[in-house]
Amino acid sequence: MTAPNQAVDTSRPNSARVCNVLLGGRDGYDLDLLVARPLLDSQLTIAMRESRRFARRAVEHLCNQHRVHQVVELGCGFPLHPDIGEINADANNTARTLCIDNDVLAATHARAVLNGPNGVVADADLTDTTAVLAEITAVMDSSAPLAVCLSGTAELLADAPAVLGTLTNQLPAGTWIVFSHITDGIAGDDISSAVAALGDAGIGFHPRDRDTIAAMLAPYRLAAPGLIAPHRWRPADTEHATLRPLHPDTWDLAAYSALGQLPH
Ligand SMILES: C[S@@+](CC[C@H](N)C(=O)[O-])C[C@H]1O[C@@H](n2cnc3c(N)ncnc32)[C@H](O)[C@@H]1O
Repeated sequence: MTAPNQAVDTSRPNSARVCNVLLGGRDGYDLDLLVARPLLDSQLTIAMRESRRFARRAVEHLCNQHRVHQVVELGCGFPLHPDIGEINADANNTARTLCIDNDVLAATHARAVLNGPNGVVADADLTDTTAVLAEITAVMDSSAPLAVCLSGTAELLADAPAVLGTLTNQLPAGTWIVFSHITDGIAGDDISSAVAALGDAGIGFHPRDRDTIAAMLAPYRLAAPGLIAPHRWRPADTEHATLRPLHPDTWDLAAYSALGQLPH
C-alpha cells in the first residue's frame, strides 16, 4: 500500500501536473513544462485529449440515457471545464460525484471546483483498493446506480489490470465503467518515444495493447459501439475539427475507449 502523496514536490516533474499541461491546463511548474511542451503535438497528447472528450460524452450519456447520477472518477487530475462533476451535476441536482487522486495539488484543485453538497474529493492511492472501496461506500448510495470513470489514469499504474480486477470484483452488480486507455498498438513509435520522454522525467507510463485492455474490461458488458478509438465513440457533431488523422483511411488514434456495465 502506498500512502497518498501529501507534499507538493516542485523539485521534479509530476504526472498529475504534466498530464494537466498535455490536456490543455495551466497547472504545471517549470520542470513540468519542460517535459510537457515537446509532447504537445504528439500522438500521445492527441489521444489523451480525445480520451478526455470521450469520458465527458460517456458520463453525459449515462446521466441522460441511463439515469446514473453517482459517478466516481478514479484519478481525477486537475479538473478541466467541463469536468465530470459539473456534467453530472448539470444533469441532476442531486447527483453525487466522488473524485479520487493521490496528488495533493490535483485533489486540492478538485476540491475547489467540486462545490456543492454532493461533491467529495478523497486523497487516496488507487492501488490501495480497500481504501478506494471504503471511500465509495462512504459517499455513494448502494441502492442507486453507480458509475466509475477510469479514463487517462490506468496508464499511470504499473499493475492497472490487477487493481481494476480487484475493484471490479467488489463493485455492485450493475455498476457502469467509463474507461479509456492509451495503446502502443497504434502509432507505436510515436507512443514509445513519448513514453521514453516521460520515463526520463521519472514518470512511469504504461500503454497497453488491445488484448490486454479488452481483458481488463472482460467482466463488463460493453455498450455499443464497444471498445473503440475515443473519437469514434458516439462523436458529437461539433468536435474533431482539428483532429489530425494518423491514417486518413482508418482515422485511428492511439487509445481505446468503452462504456461497460457489470451484469446484474
Ligand atoms: C492524466 S490524469 C487523468 C485525469 C482525468 N481522469 C482525465 O481523464 O483527464 C491522471 C491522474 O491520475 C492520478 N494518479 C496516478 N496514479 C495514481 C494513484 N496510484 N492513485 C491515485 N491517483 C493516481 C494522477 O495524480 C493524475 O492526477
